[in-house]
Amino acid sequence: MNHPVRILISLALLALVLAAATCAAPAVPTTGQPTAQPAAAPIMTTTAQPAERPTGQSSQEKPTPMCAKTLNIAHRGARSLAPENTLVAAQKGLEIGADLWELDVAMSADGVPFLVHDDTLVRTSNVKAVFPDRSPWGNHLFTWAEIQQLDFGSWFVATDPFKQIAAGNVSPAELESYKGVKAPSLREALAFTRDHDWRVNVEIKDLSGTPGDATVVETVVALVNELGMADRVLISSFNHSYLVRVKQANPAIATAALVERGDPDPVALLRRLGAQAYNPRASAIAADEIGRIRQAGFDVYIWTVNDEATMRKLIAAQASGIFTDFPQLLKPLVTRCP
Ligand code: G3P
Ligand code: CA
Repeated sequence: MNHPVRILISLALLALVLAAATCAAPAVPTTGQPTAQPAAAPIMTTTAQPAERPTGQSSQEKPTPMCAKTLNIAHRGARSLAPENTLVAAQKGLEIGADLWELDVAMSADGVPFLVHDDTLVRTSNVKAVFPDRSPWGNHLFTWAEIQQLDFGSWFVATDPFKQIAAGNVSPAELESYKGVKAPSLREALAFTRDHDWRVNVEIKDLSGTPGDATVVETVVALVNELGMADRVLISSFNHSYLVRVKQANPAIATAALVERGDPDPVALLRRLGAQAYNPRASAIAADEIGRIRQAGFDVYIWTVNDEATMRKLIAAQASGIFTDFPQLLKPLVTRCP
């Protein structure tokens, strides 16, 4: 074979080898970073499953949980010891060693998501004294600037709702610090959580019938995304259409269906919603049902439990987590994960 022919054959062989290598090689992200995961990360326990898991898939296919610890969830912060849905209540939950805290979020008149449980500002602030002519004092009737003028702490000091001040479990210095406490915006609450390397269950209140209904979900998800907290947040709601909207906005955020009276088929409900967890009132679920739902690959977080006997029963039933106003009571009862 003469020299030019050998060169031509060599070039042809080289081209074939290169073509084969290109076809066989997997796509590699050019940045060297992992590719985005479309499914929700298992932020709370090891059992959360992808939103897109097809119905009928066997529970045997999921990995065995490495740790069956029941999570201690400080409800509205440690609200037996500090004014609910404030950063001082979150701080108390953190000091106690809760695994995460829960907060309630609603919208101001000018579209700022902030922490409040009720539909109005009456019970947990001095709104009636500051704005006496603004009955019925609905959350959505006040701008964020107005809400920031309110005191969300003194009512707790005055009413001692869980009798923990009377019991001597709140120090005089803490009591003093609660006076004048402000309602945090959701941005502040999320930043607090991230800055303390903690986790949070964001309950989006049902804002049906108010302007916030159209935007609250997307506003909350945008904040979670902006702060890079998709893996630290569980979003729940009694309004299950909100959970579908969360998944549309960011499928990587874990969601939980809150239920008041129990659902006849929780697993089917969660699959329909693409949710990761079932969050029933304690009286609305039996111990064996907890096991069945968890076997199907979902978490079960139960609210709101303040007595030790029920806590022990739910831990024995392997509830994924317990919401409590007394995380200090639950703390010594829950197993530590390695
Ligand atoms: O998320 C559990 C619990 O907080 C739901 O009820 O009324 O306390 O917000 P509620
Ligand atoms: Ca709540």
